[in-house]
Amino acid sequence: MKMWAQAQPNIALVKYWGKRDLARNLPAVGSLSITLDALYSRMSVDFLENPGSDELLLNGESNTAMLPRVSMCIDRIAGNDRSAARIQSEFNFPVAAGLASSASAFAALVLATYEASGQTADTLTMARIAGSVSGSAARSFYGGFVELTAGSKDIDVESIADPEDWPLKVVVAVTETGPKRLSSGEAMIRSGKTSPFYSSWVERQADDLAMAREAVEKRDFEQLAVVSEHNCLKMHSVMWTSRPPIVYWNNATLACMETVRDLQKRSEPVFFTIDAGPQLKAVCLPSAEETVRDGLSQTDGVVTTYTSGLGYGARVSEQL
Ligand code: DP6
Repeated sequence: MKMWAQAQPNIALVKYWGKRDLARNLPAVGSLSITLDALYSRMSVDFLENPGSDELLLNGESNTAMLPRVSMCIDRIAGNDRSAARIQSEFNFPVAAGLASSASAFAALVLATYEASGQTADTLTMARIAGSVSGSAARSFYGGFVELTAGSKDIDVESIADPEDWPLKVVVAVTETGPKRLSSGEAMIRSGKTSPFYSSWVERQADDLAMAREAVEKRDFEQLAVVSEHNCLKMHSVMWTSRPPIVYWNNATLACMETVRDLQKRSEPVFFTIDAGPQLKAVCLPSAEETVRDGLSQTDGVVTTYTSGLGYGARVSEQL
């Protein structure tokens, strides 16, 4: 039976934006995220008998765009003198469009590579390898509410609450399906070099993390809403004040923010967050899920919506 590894995207409520160490891809700030359950990436790695180059299939079609990072990730586990690999991947959502596809993809890839090479490692070791390729991927090894701490030598990651401890819902409003204009990695390096707001962003992150962690511990939705929206808009202010400016939003992104504001005025328990792309993610209590989905799907410019609960971290599965 062929073994596949599956991981789900995670959405940061307190964001990772900035690198402390480029060579090791160490984040400049800690972050706090929620892992989804309805969207997934599945990966399977086969090492070939004959030497040659790696081959990546994405939903059945050959893909070269992601291949360099995929090959680098496999090298970090199986070594540079390994045989060529055939990597199959499946996604049930758009790739590289600001829906955290790289987070779930690299978490699944690290697990699939360990599986294929017959090696074993603990979750934190695998999360650190995934994070060295794509910072947010480290968090997709864990389920529910996940906190990543940025140390000077390495990261630490842990789940601070399980999905069923506080079963929040996420409605993703997709406003563009194409790939994003600038990768988050390049964009955050630019912000670190050029935004006058960058240093205060880094300095104040510990306060936001403490407030979000406390909100999760107390299951205080209002507190989580306030700190998440603040942290999101602060990250985008750092992007906007970079040179040249980085603006991922479109008209529909702003229209979705208005929709969320209207719902909040009607006392619906919902807040928004936006990553390095034009999609808006609305986080809500289960009671508001339908109203939030209806509101966002009827918002001008929204192409489609995805609804998800919270899920668990990366795992190995048999493909049926
Ligand atoms: C805005 O993990 O994609 O989604 O480490 O360069 O691959 P690299 O960056 P990546 O950045 C994610 C940025 C973000 C915020 C977050 O997920 O915390």
